[in-house]
Amino acid sequence: MRLYIPVLLGSRRIGRQSIGVARCLMGKLRACANIRTELLDLAGYNVPLMDQRLQEMPDPPADVRELGDKLQQADGIVMVVPEYKNGYPGVLKNALDYLDAGHFRYKPIAISTVSSGEFGGLNCLAQLRLVCLALGGVPIPASLPVSQVQATVDADGTVREPRLAKKVEPFLRELLWYVEAMVTQRHKTTWMRLTTGACLKASTPAGDATR
Ligand SMILES: Cc1cc2nc3c(=O)[nH]c(=O)nc-3n(C[C@H](O)[C@H](O)[C@H](O)COP(=O)(O)O)c2cc1C
Repeated sequence: MRLYIPVLLGSRRIGRQSIGVARCLMGKLRACANIRTELLDLAGYNVPLMDQRLQEMPDPPADVRELGDKLQQADGIVMVVPEYKNGYPGVLKNALDYLDAGHFRYKPIAISTVSSGEFGGLNCLAQLRLVCLALGGVPIPASLPVSQVQATVDADGTVREPRLAKKVEPFLRELLWYVEAMVTQRHKTTWMRLTTGACLKASTPAGDATR
């Protein structure tokens, strides 16, 4: 089975540096034959300020619907998010506020936070994990904080800092462990629902309803 694991980039700042981290992670995912990935780049989607949830909109903007559909189809999600003012960027929260818990339900979320300073966006990581939980997603224990991004990752995704380079594959390996486990469970749950329903219908003898 081919897994769909998009990379959601939470910065649309002109000159953003977190794009390099997103490209690095996409490159690693692309190297796996059974994974399909793509960049879900908020700079490429026209997402107006949210004034109504997607599910309540009679005629949602095409880009909002497309972004929602792609996240809905995902088996797991990688988020690359810079730290702004000790938190995550407002553009990301605005986009996520359109969605409902169905979009992330039972999906592992791997979060890489990015900063130009020393701490790799750790404040933002804690807050974003809570947002993922509110969406029904499962933030994985591993994280990939990237500090001093300007000196460690090039815009094309080349990682120049060996200590960071060593952390990339274990981070994605943990994501894949959770994705495989949850995809298997999602299919099992569907199968159980189907067989239980069939079993109840087939095996209830006429008249048993009175017992
Ligand atoms: C509006 C804004 C707020 C920022 N706030 C923080 C912060 O609170 N902590 C931090 O470590 N870096 C902060 N930074 C620095 C960013 O981490 C750094 O610019 C990083 O490159 C941002 O990612 P981007 O280039 O993809 O936008 C801030 C940058 C911007 C533009």
